[in-house]
Amino acid sequence: MTKSGSLVVVGSGIKFPSHMTTEAQLCIERADKLFFLTSSEAAEQWLVERNAAGESLDRFYAKGKRRIDTYLEMVAHVLTAVYAGNHVCVLFYGHPGIFVWPSHELIRQARAAGFPTVMLPGISAEDCLFADLGIDPAREGCQSYEATDFLVRNRQIDTSAGLVLWQVGVVGNLTPPTPGAVPSLPLLKNALLLLYDPTHLVYIYEAAQVQNQASTVQCVALADLNETLVTAVSTLYIPPAQPAQINLDMLQKLGLSIDDIQFSETSG
Ligand SMILES: C[S@@+](CC[C@H](N)C(=O)[O-])C[C@H]1O[C@@H](n2cnc3c(N)ncnc32)[C@H](O)[C@@H]1O
Repeated sequence: MTKSGSLVVVGSGIKFPSHMTTEAQLCIERADKLFFLTSSEAAEQWLVERNAAGESLDRFYAKGKRRIDTYLEMVAHVLTAVYAGNHVCVLFYGHPGIFVWPSHELIRQARAAGFPTVMLPGISAEDCLFADLGIDPAREGCQSYEATDFLVRNRQIDTSAGLVLWQVGVVGNLTPPTPGAVPSLPLLKNALLLLYDPTHLVYIYEAAQVQNQASTVQCVALADLNETLVTAVSTLYIPPAQPAQINLDMLQKLGLSIDDIQFSETSG
């Protein structure tokens, strides 16, 4: 039997409020209880104007507190409202399911407890990056990793495909970031230098977050990557270093030519 409470998880997109979907906005307005984690005071104000029962989850962050402890407290707090029988909407920045641990945990726990749950997609930083840098991930392929995860798991990188590294501005840091200090960035750079030439150009990207603001794109040689270039919202894009090899045997088995492959990569 479904219980009376419910949970919908929505995203604000990156540029506020223009990236917000109509579907997400309706959920925000109709919820008995709204929780949010956003990037700006203007966004908070906009949300509370649409739902007076809106509450920020920002207060769970604290200096020196491990991110996982913050997230567990957020999840417990939101679920209390669901278990009390409320139709709850939770909003996260960007796409709510991309690099957002509490959103998936909320869905998992609420669903396991028998409550109707849904996550609605939103526009992520990677979506903005593809648009602003003119990258179609179908052309050369694209790998996407969280920066600390990339370092600690020895990911096998294909340098003939693009590489997106998230959270480079907080690499190695499991507590809220200190602006300007990224002590582990040299470790990330050294790991990348094992894969790419020091002269390989990389892009430090920040998507516009408000109307009439331009996205920022800094292009530097990998050897010049340093902490003065990155912030907590920077995403690093590393273009392919060389074209991918074509498996001629497989082409033949598929009855395709090299021209066909180039066409299929550009069609769609
Ligand atoms: C916790 S993740 C949240 C991602 C978000 N849910 C999304 O869908 O884009 C934070 C990371 O997203 C990326 N990010 C967030 N805002 C960004 C922006 N305005 N421009 C570029 N990257 C951004 C950065 O890599 C940042 O460290």
